[in-house]
Amino acid sequence: MKKDVMLVTGAGQIGMAIARRVGFGKKIVLGDRNVENARAVAGIMNGAGYDVAPIETDISNRGSILAAIGEALKYGEIKYVVNAAGVSPSQAPVESILKVDLYGTAVLLEEAGKAIAEWGAGLTVSSQSGWRMPQLTAEQDRLLATAPTEELLGLEMLKPENIRDTLHAYQMAKRCNEKRVMYECVRWGERGARLNAIAPGIIVTPLAIDEFNGPRGDFYKNMFAKCPAGRPGTADEMANIAELLLSEAGAFITGSTFLADGGATASYYYGPLRPGA
Ligand SMILES: NC(=O)c1ccc[n+]([C@@H]2O[C@H](COP(=O)([O-])OP(=O)(O)OC[C@H]3O[C@@H](n4cnc5c(N)ncnc54)[C@H](O)[C@@H]3O)[C@@H](O)[C@H]2O)c1
Repeated sequence: MKKDVMLVTGAGQIGMAIARRVGFGKKIVLGDRNVENARAVAGIMNGAGYDVAPIETDISNRGSILAAIGEALKYGEIKYVVNAAGVSPSQAPVESILKVDLYGTAVLLEEAGKAIAEWGAGLTVSSQSGWRMPQLTAEQDRLLATAPTEELLGLEMLKPENIRDTLHAYQMAKRCNEKRVMYECVRWGERGARLNAIAPGIIVTPLAIDEFNGPRGDFYKNMFAKCPAGRPGTADEMANIAELLLSEAGAFITGSTFLADGGATASYYYGPLRPGA
């Protein structure tokens, strides 16, 4: 029997948790820039009865994204797309964050939207970081949503002189992810498919651990200590949301970003995380 095909980019903790939750019985094509990560996750999952094909994929490169989509199409129509690839402010310079998290995500959503099966579903992982920054102007939001992908990195607001540091680059990238999901979900909808995002708070993964050990370590530890949940989240808790968004139970949800941060954003605006509180 032919299996449904799921393309997953980013073989990290969140990508793996989602693949494990929703990928059983499906053909999973798992791409990561570090192919060893993809192979390691495939090894664990295939040893637990899953069917995972690891490949090398760099989402900051359109050719590499098209190759990943081509690889997935070899197994049949792509019914699910999950993008959990990314770099954080302590892991990479401004240029890489914008190239991977902002441009790469936009290109992936664009290209996957041309290949997604009728009634398929996709999700990308953005971040609470996109929520805890000042409002952009309506025009800036419109540009992040709708600018042609090849023009995104040339936008005035993303020029090096207008990006303060890696955290600012990350926030802009994650804001762009959410705007892009709204824009692309309309195109995905023309194929009967849906597209959403999850905006996690601090989730214990290698990426977050790099943040705990980076220049903003105390800031991040304070953030989860003072949020209503009082703890960081887990990748499996993100998989709970992915399961809803990718299933029939989520059939009315598209173009949406699900904030799941233990209340950190709420506390940033109205609680003990408020700047100056
Ligand atoms: N962990 C958190 O606290 C947290 C919070 C908010 C958002 N996120 C987002 O979740 C996503 C997944 O992160 P994670 O926490 O699972 O981290 P992780 O470090 O466990 O996994 C990230 C994976 O992405 C891969 N990757 C990096 N650049 C890539 C590229 N150009 N092409 C393909 N793969 C690439 C890495 O090799 C790694 O395997 C990221 O987009 C991150 O920004 C994480």
